[in-house]
Amino acid sequence: LAPIRRICCVGAGYVGGPTCTVIALNCPSIIVTIVDVNPDRIAAWNSPPDEEGNLSNLPVYEPGLAEVVKQCRGRNLFFSTDIDAAIEQADLVFVSVNTPTKKSGMGAGFAADLHYVEASTRRIAAVSTSSKIIVEKSTVPCRTAASMRTILESNSRPGLRFDILSNPEFLAEGTAISDLQNPDRVLIGSLDTSAGRIAAARLASVYEHWVPQYRIYTTGLWSSELSKLAANALLAQRISSVNAMAAICEATGADVNEVAHACGLDARIGPKFLRASVGFGGSCFQKDILNLVYLSESLNLPQVAEYWKQVITMNEWSKTRFSNKVVSTLFNTITEKRIAVLGFAFKKNTGDTRESAAITLCRNFRQERAKVVIYDPKVPQSQIYLDLTEPGVVDDREAVRQQVTIACSALEACAGAEAVVIATEWDEFKHLDWRKAYQIMSKPAFVFDGRGIVDAKALRAIGFKVHSVGKGPEIVDPIWS
Ligand code: NAD
Ligand code: UDX
Repeated sequence: LAPIRRICCVGAGYVGGPTCTVIALNCPSIIVTIVDVNPDRIAAWNSPPDEEGNLSNLPVYEPGLAEVVKQCRGRNLFFSTDIDAAIEQADLVFVSVNTPTKKSGMGAGFAADLHYVEASTRRIAAVSTSSKIIVEKSTVPCRTAASMRTILESNSRPGLRFDILSNPEFLAEGTAISDLQNPDRVLIGSLDTSAGRIAAARLASVYEHWVPQYRIYTTGLWSSELSKLAANALLAQRISSVNAMAAICEATGADVNEVAHACGLDARIGPKFLRASVGFGGSCFQKDILNLVYLSESLNLPQVAEYWKQVITMNEWSKTRFSNKVVSTLFNTITEKRIAVLGFAFKKNTGDTRESAAITLCRNFRQERAKVVIYDPKVPQSQIYLDLTEPGVVDDREAVRQQVTIACSALEACAGAEAVVIATEWDEFKHLDWRKAYQIMSKPAFVFDGRGIVDAKALRAIGFKVHSVGKGPEIVDPIWS
């Protein structure tokens, strides 16, 4: 097998950046160039170390990422806006561009917008002067590889050969580096032809620098594409299922953590991904399920479409149910009340806010005319305002600025607040000086724990009224009835 010597990754985002950085780390003999149309993003990947020598200005925050970039950048890892040169020189090109849900036109609200994938594929066809392996890293609808093949074959120079592989990415944000260093599996889909199998083996040989062979699973192209949508749908389904149980727990006095633990002890169910929450967020789950729903409808399978859609319906309901609980507990009005929202990212250890449950909560609190004070350790103020003024969230930007303020610490957010809402499970909220928070809040002081992370008993001992998602009232207290 001819070894891969140069890799180009088109798309320097949350996936392309960390994924190809880890390839560079583990394959010193391969030159990896990550390119993007967005010059600001590339500049941020190339940003110099701060006074302490840390790469604190990378465009993606991931534990451990900065250290790996520092180690490899300039050695065999490069970030560039010269897309054409990087494609031209590469033996293998990862397409790792965004595939968001379409906002308008056919399939709006469900189908994946594939125009970034198509644009990059056309670029590869236009500039290539040698044969290459093209790898779908982006999450795409089943059979996208066939469209890419047609585009490449119709637009490239005669005599060139493009082998298309599907290699979906399973990393989760916040744990990207450890997921990439130690993946449960690497999935590679190819055509069942000898050329397809050789291309798959060449890509596998890149991963084999650090991933044991038994964790590399090769399949057909369409299975690989569909497996990515299927895995995300199954994961999200677990969360919607446990959140549905959480509602029953709250109404009955059962404890969702105990129920989840009891269920997870069954080896057939397993303990992971059963944490009740305010609702799942992130750039993938909703988008990929909507994509699956659209695919099912296109295949004239309306029952299948409806089945998967329910996972999202339950998630939307979970978020609304939680914000309604805040309003009803605060004596049915939060108008002019100060609500401290702790956490804005869609999960801990990331600065990513895409589809974060916090956006929905803040919108609902604003609609009730509350004063919202937000604190998140990693999300910049500008991003929070951007998310809260997105069309569809709100159209009155000035009103948002007046109603929403950003705090520099969790305690600053708590000062004078009637209620604290934990929207993201950052560790620092677990270890907050809750006594101090209690002192500086209005009384009665409420805590609404949307992530089940605080010790409700200890907080009640301080004097807080506590609501934890999926837990019925612990003590008989008329305020909760
Ligand atoms: P992202 O938006 O962070 O990054 C995509 C990048 O591609 C952007 O920087 C954009 O400027 C660039 N781009 C778009 N068109 C381009 C073009 N024609 N040429 C060069 N660059 C171009 O997106 P992401 O979160 O990295 O996701 C990328 C893909 O990976 C998506 O399909 C997503 O579904 C999938 N995925 C994401 C995750 C995740 O956790 N974020 C996990 C697994 C899979
Ligand atoms: C997900 C998939 O896990 C990953 O394999 C895929 O590649 C991309 O999509 P990501 O969205 O980064 O990863 O994070 P994930 O850890 O899956 O969390 C998604 C959302 O679900 C977060 O809002 C998280 O807080 C929530 N969640 C997760 C729960 O509410 N309960 C859980 O038990 C687990």
